[in-house]
Amino acid sequence: MSTYTDLHFPKGFLWGCATAAHQVEGNNTNNNWWQWEQEGGHIKGGDVSGIACDHYNRFDSDFALAQELGHNAHRLSVEWSRIEPEEGRWDMKEVDHYRQVMESLHRHGLTPMVTLHHFTNPLWFERRGGWLNPQAPELLARYAGFIARELGDLVPFWLTINEPMMVAIAGYLMGVHPPQHKDMNEAMLVARHLLLAHVRMYQAIKEATTHGPQVGIVLSMSYFQPKDPDSPGDRAMCELADAVENQYFLTGLSEGVFPPPVGQGEEATDAKGTWDLIGLNYYHRLLISEDFLARGAPYGEPPPGAELSSMGWEVYPEGIYQIIKRLTQYSPPIYITENGFPTDDDSARCRYVLRHLWQMHRAISEGADVRGYMHWSFTDNFEWAEGWEPRLGMIAMEPGTLDRRPLPSAYLFRDIARANAVTAAQLQQYLG
Ligand code: FCB
Repeated sequence: MSTYTDLHFPKGFLWGCATAAHQVEGNNTNNNWWQWEQEGGHIKGGDVSGIACDHYNRFDSDFALAQELGHNAHRLSVEWSRIEPEEGRWDMKEVDHYRQVMESLHRHGLTPMVTLHHFTNPLWFERRGGWLNPQAPELLARYAGFIARELGDLVPFWLTINEPMMVAIAGYLMGVHPPQHKDMNEAMLVARHLLLAHVRMYQAIKEATTHGPQVGIVLSMSYFQPKDPDSPGDRAMCELADAVENQYFLTGLSEGVFPPPVGQGEEATDAKGTWDLIGLNYYHRLLISEDFLARGAPYGEPPPGAELSSMGWEVYPEGIYQIIKRLTQYSPPIYITENGFPTDDDSARCRYVLRHLWQMHRAISEGADVRGYMHWSFTDNFEWAEGWEPRLGMIAMEPGTLDRRPLPSAYLFRDIARANAVTAAQLQQYLG
């Protein structure tokens, strides 16, 4: 006898997948990642993004497929280096391209959630010092205001920056993303600029639009625990990792300050309340030990014997519940903007999705205001420094052919999205 019950989600819940321009569009030749890929030696297997999923040309059929697969929303990013290929010059052909992309989303019944900065920088911005440049917030705001003015009528959700602390940590502290620096002071300075950039982008979008869009940020949050709960060193470093990756933006935007260790609580002008929603990217739990700063990336580890993804991430569904609960102390509604599982075994992906939706539902049933779930990702795509090997798509993309082949998880997700519910029968079938 099954002990499961059906899990119903709130009316109007958004169901879809998340993507990022550089990982799927193809030929984003004018940004820092493309350049880094060409240098060689940085990406696993010597991979490059290249034509990626050719989504730049195939967006319309991709969205038709998403619609067939029951989605009612889609998270994507627009590529800054296409829109502003040289400083201060707007490429209206690209603006028109993204207008067609947004129109196609609407035609296919998909609510757009649009990220403005998802890891990549135009080369001109990088040459001007990238995120170290004190003018970075203004440069980002000018771009955000421009594109929001151009596309504002079609975009109800704007997400300013994807995983800002990953930009600081991976690019400037761990040195695993471009510009590959390993400098704590730089990382802290970049974190300040990222917070200010978000604030200025938020304001610029609000000024540029009349349709009252929801504007927020996308935070990556890991569920951190000390490796040895009895070790004061492990506990202290765990708190530090949490303060940097998880708490900095939450305190920054709720209180309008630069919290430690980035600042000393001094005011971050106008930052307070610059979020209409919180985008949460949740993937895994990490155990933190005393030596975490010296370890480099990854800076934590899974417990022994844990179920792991093909990228070594622990499957820890309880973490999404804990983090959502933590976010309920802030007023904005929560959208899961990423959650996913690199694996060659799609049945493991099905279980992963169900177990995370179950925990998300548990938080909702206790009062959390969660309004959407965007699975990472739609098709397999270019996984940054990990190259093409990790398979994160619910739709397998055949190497060489670019053909899209929906996996069983895509049909499971379709049934969930259409019903706005996970059924007891699905839980029974996949979780036993
Ligand atoms: C997140 C990134 C996203 C993707 C997933 C797997 O950190 O935002 O682009 O690479 O991880």
